[in-house]
Amino acid sequence: MLKRPRRNRKSPIIRDMIQETHVSSANLIFPLFIIDGENQKSEVKSMPGIFRYSIDNLLREVESCLKLGLKAFDLFPAVEESLKDKYATESYREGTLYLRAIEAVKTNFPEACVVTDVAMDPYSSDGHDGIVKDGEILNDETLEVLGKMALAHAQSGADIIAPSDMMDGRIGYIREILDSNGYTDVSLMSYTAKYASAYYGPFRDALGSAPKKGDKKTYQMNPANSREALIEAQLDMEEGADFLMVKPGLPYLDIIKLLHDNFDLPIAAYNVSGEYAMLKAAIANGWLSEAVIMETILSFRRAGATSILTYHAKEVIEKGWVK
Ligand code: PBG
Repeated sequence: MLKRPRRNRKSPIIRDMIQETHVSSANLIFPLFIIDGENQKSEVKSMPGIFRYSIDNLLREVESCLKLGLKAFDLFPAVEESLKDKYATESYREGTLYLRAIEAVKTNFPEACVVTDVAMDPYSSDGHDGIVKDGEILNDETLEVLGKMALAHAQSGADIIAPSDMMDGRIGYIREILDSNGYTDVSLMSYTAKYASAYYGPFRDALGSAPKKGDKKTYQMNPANSREALIEAQLDMEEGADFLMVKPGLPYLDIIKLLHDNFDLPIAAYNVSGEYAMLKAAIANGWLSEAVIMETILSFRRAGATSILTYHAKEVIEKGWVK
């Protein structure tokens, strides 16, 4: 035998020498859930180790992450049912929880990078990402709401705005509104290929944002399709997106790779709530070892993602697995 690939695996030094893919804390974005009130910290049942924080505790959490070198955060609000309506008006109301949270983080920690979520569902009495009329999701009318939300986020100090709604034309629509209001430097991370996935369950539990009726299949993508992701990516690029995101992550590594190979924009992967819950449950039962966490996160980088939104972000740094 002239060729023995095992020679390149014979020692840790050689294995490290030829390692192709690395994950650093700079690649990670930590999603954080927010609730109203004071001194609140309530664990999400289906996501052990993940909490909903009131703003005061959110600031403590952000501070402890910054000390660890974790600097990017994606915020999601849990909104009281009584504040929800068909048009998600609470989402851009002056003084609303979410806008106060963005402002509090950016005022206290200007060095933090705040990603904000633009979508109606946490505020919608229908639990949908768009305005519902006679059972249909209205695309163009929804854009107006998204535009107001995005502008409010920019005014509150958002660094990156991430529309997660999957309405057609929203990237261009939001870019135009931001630019015409002087927010040319606020970035857009588009949920480009967001699939109609059952992996969002724990997130919807965390926020109480599940659809009251029907599903999200008329706007989120069919898990069976990959070529459609190319159309979405092309449109997002033309409309001015700065990042293309694939969501969920693990069951869609081929889509991450597809977008990475076809587009020059940075690719983000969302390692969603259900993926987190799955690993945590198996680890808690002793069915899998904790090593699955880094193996999973590494797979997003190998597939071509530069940025990874993951609920594991803090723990992997705390445990010293990521520097
Ligand atoms: C909603 C939104 C969802 C997630 C992020 N933004 C859920 C959904 O579309 O129902 C899911 C994130 C996760 O599961 O971790 N706009």
